[in-house]
Amino acid sequence: MTHSNIFNGVPWFDDEGRPVNAHGACIVEDAGVYYLLGEYKTDDRNHFIGFSCYSSPDLIHWHFERLALPMQADGPLGPDRIGERVKVMRCPPTGKFVMFAHADDLGYRDPLIVVAVSDTVNGEYRLLGPLEYQGQAIRRWDMGTFQDTDGTGYLLLHEGDIFRLSDDYLHADELVAHEIAPGGESPAMTRTDDGTYAIMFSNKTSWDRNDNYYLTAPSPSGPWTLRGTFAPKGTCTWNSQCSFIFPLTLADGRTVPMYMGDRWSFPHQVSCASQVWLPLVYENGRIALPEYMETWDPRTGNPLPWDGRVLDVALDSNVPGDKTTVRFQLDDERRLALIGNADRTGGYAQLDIADDDGTVFSSLVDCYAPTRSHGLLFVSPPLRQGAYTATVRVTGDASVFYKKDGTRLGSQGTRVSITGMTLLQN
Ligand code: DGJ
Repeated sequence: MTHSNIFNGVPWFDDEGRPVNAHGACIVEDAGVYYLLGEYKTDDRNHFIGFSCYSSPDLIHWHFERLALPMQADGPLGPDRIGERVKVMRCPPTGKFVMFAHADDLGYRDPLIVVAVSDTVNGEYRLLGPLEYQGQAIRRWDMGTFQDTDGTGYLLLHEGDIFRLSDDYLHADELVAHEIAPGGESPAMTRTDDGTYAIMFSNKTSWDRNDNYYLTAPSPSGPWTLRGTFAPKGTCTWNSQCSFIFPLTLADGRTVPMYMGDRWSFPHQVSCASQVWLPLVYENGRIALPEYMETWDPRTGNPLPWDGRVLDVALDSNVPGDKTTVRFQLDDERRLALIGNADRTGGYAQLDIADDDGTVFSSLVDCYAPTRSHGLLFVSPPLRQGAYTATVRVTGDASVFYKKDGTRLGSQGTRVSITGMTLLQN
């Protein structure tokens, strides 16, 4: 195995060299293995094709297990439907793995929370249908789940409704909190060591990032107190949208809540959407992500910088077709990292890596960010010993999308600003 750090904000590749395609995700730990379950996106349209399941021994090296729930022949997750924010919990009394997700029509006008079950975390889940409360389907969209230390399961909803689930997790038993976060989306919750519950939400900006915020309470039923942002204001939650909080056990035995957020890249979500995972700090009753770590070690929770051989290359243009090419020789296996600027005017670049026999790797690279940053834009899968050329080209395309009310969001330009490349050792 190669590197031993989590690289934030760049696509990851599995052991077959394919993008780790699991977004709006959660992690389930089972028998010492981490399972990542998320939305299996396409690179052009926003329709459901399945929820994926990947496994890893270390949160860094991922193996594609299967589509845990592929597109169904018909029904809420049939053709031309939306499937989002999949979450899985193992139900203690039944031992079953229970999956929850948001299902909808392509215009987000038929929202449902659906439930599915499997005997194993990485098996194929059987869709049971809409999750019900008092015999009625729960017609809401963004959702999350939370499992308390006593095994009680909760369903978290946009705007801040929280339902306690039945013992078998197959329906909602009680509405324990109501509209605690008007305007909030993508809920995620954790319980801190002193028994304080913290729930986080994003604001509603479609695929864009914003300053997410949180509330705390002595119990899931409240009373909930608004605490404000948990990442420094203006960073747009370090360029991400909250999705899940995973209790990560470090090598020294301590457990820390790990924030998991999405850096969406609509419409090219397979090539360019990425994860931002950071340990949450809990101090004096407040949770925080005080610093961004571009790369870090999940065994210690500490930054683990990347390093390598620097290639002198630069490109700064918004003219489609403008490009730069660099040649390099590898004496050992390395990954190629693109360094550059991302900001409100950033567009998609096209990266092509070729050897003497032709192209060995190609991908789009997203240079858009609502808050300006400079650093890693992309890291390729490992490249074997050999002679290569890497070409970066301005595509003229950018991440642009629209709110339900028609407001245009995303990039205001198509700029590609590359300041260097590094051949990573780790
Ligand atoms: C915001 C939600 O949090 C996402 O899951 C997704 O539904 C987008 N809206 C779609 O615009």
